[in-house]
Amino acid sequence: MNNYYELIYEGKAKKVFSHDDADKVIIEFKDDATAFNALKKAKFEGKGKLNCLISARIFEILVKKNIPTHFLKLKNENTMIAKKIKVIPLEIVLRNTAYGSLCKQTTIKAGTLLAKPLIDIYLKNDDLNDPLITKERIELMNIISPKELDLIIDSTLKINVILKSFFKNIQLQLVDFKLEFGFDSKNNILLGDEISPDNCRLWDLNQKNDTIVSLDKDRFRNDLGGLIEAYSEINRRINDFI
Ligand code: TMP
Ligand code: ASP
Repeated sequence: MNNYYELIYEGKAKKVFSHDDADKVIIEFKDDATAFNALKKAKFEGKGKLNCLISARIFEILVKKNIPTHFLKLKNENTMIAKKIKVIPLEIVLRNTAYGSLCKQTTIKAGTLLAKPLIDIYLKNDDLNDPLITKERIELMNIISPKELDLIIDSTLKINVILKSFFKNIQLQLVDFKLEFGFDSKNNILLGDEISPDNCRLWDLNQKNDTIVSLDKDRFRNDLGGLIEAYSEINRRINDFI
């Protein structure tokens, strides 16, 4: 990115730059990967580009299904133009299958299919290590109103229906995912951030037995190797299908 654009914010996996239009931003996807609140760090050449392309395709699918998102268009392979939003400091996790922190914090066995989607909400605060938070605490902290929270939860459930079916078509099990929302200049709530193998667990359904083959950031979190190969495979399946 040239010096013309001002860096507004740098996160663990993305940089956000100003745009000529004050209602828009330019989001650059980085090759950096972090896990466990950045205790573990690495760089994977090509990850930024893959996550940007995958996210763009998924946002397009959601927009077609009337889900309001911040995505406007791709600028190039690792950069997109999006509506500027004020990010709500909540991480909305939806789980279809038990895995990850749900299994570390409960006695539910890994791989258990949940009878209905479970929504876990975390406070987006690195200093506090993104703690699990309750509806009541969200209200107490005045982060958003209970009505706005209901809207976000409802939207997350709708997004799950769309994404679960889309990924099934390309032989992937959508185990869980994390979403972030924000307010645009007119105070509408939009889906923000990214939807990629960095924040979705995707298991390959092209397996003869019940072995779990993760095609997502668990390849890095759990030292499985082959992260770029896995993300490329997801990108290939999406492009072959669309
Ligand atoms: P968890 O099992 O570690 O709570 O993760 C649930 C889902 O949320 C998984 O798809 C990974 C995603 N996630 C993020 O995108 N960012 C995070 O900081 C964490 C902890 C999880
Ligand atoms: N995004 C988180 C981190 O930076 C963790 C994760 O995705 O597992 O550390």
